Amino acid sequence: MSKSHCPRDHQSFELKLLLRRRLLAGLRPEGLCDLCAGQGRLLRALAADFAFCHAVEKNARQAAILEARLREEGLDHVTVHRMDHEKFVRDLLPGLDAVNFLDVDAYQNPHPLLRLVFSNWRPAGPAAIAVTDGGRLGIVRGQRLRLDQYRGRLTPGAAPGPPARAHPLLVAEHELIVRAFWRELAAKRRLVVRDFIAAWPPGRRVLYYGLIVEPD
Ligand SMILES: C[S@@+](CC[C@H](N)C(=O)[O-])C[C@H]1O[C@@H](n2cnc3c(N)ncnc32)[C@H](O)[C@@H]1O
Repeated sequence: MSKSHCPRDHQSFELKLLLRRRLLAGLRPEGLCDLCAGQGRLLRALAADFAFCHAVEKNARQAAILEARLREEGLDHVTVHRMDHEKFVRDLLPGLDAVNFLDVDAYQNPHPLLRLVFSNWRPAGPAAIAVTDGGRLGIVRGQRLRLDQYRGRLTPGAAPGPPARAHPLLVAEHELIVRAFWRELAAKRRLVVRDFIAAWPPGRRVLYYGLIVEPD
């Protein structure tokens, strides 16, 4: 994921928060990693439940606001990493113990990043993953469908598909593609995925979803 742009989507903030609270209901919260922390609106709403949190944000302005808000609110168990989340996933995530909640509130297709996460990190037990999948935004805008980016296993040399708007499956059944991604990833990484929940905000331009993943 390369852009550091954060579209305003907080009209659906309550829905995002509800999804995360629902995931937390099935878990004993320990460590949270927010890979798209922004100003931390979600993170700050959840942080009190966790023993420690890591917030990753590459945009310097957003990270500065986040740090100021954390100070104001006394959330000193949150560590802010001003860096690209891919670098964080490669260099820091593998060394963190007891992370059991990953937040990826992205506005692009987050699945390449999620594939990278699970090639560098393995949950020790049940872990919740909360995702904003902005892959549909590109589809709405008529970009080419990159089904290869929605694969849990990569096929070398896979060609981009037809213009995304023309692909009825993705238009009508985006959730099926996301579920297939997790099935493939789980098989490749010997994980079990359960409790998949999906929520569409008004306009269906992005998909919010979450699940619990654990070692097989
Ligand atoms: C939708 S906003 C997150 C909002 C946040 N979850 C909240 O509740 O306030 C997405 C954030 O991801 C950040 N971002 C995008 N690409 C990134 C990357 N490669 N590494 C780190 N942060 C990134 C953006 O700068 C932006 O602040």
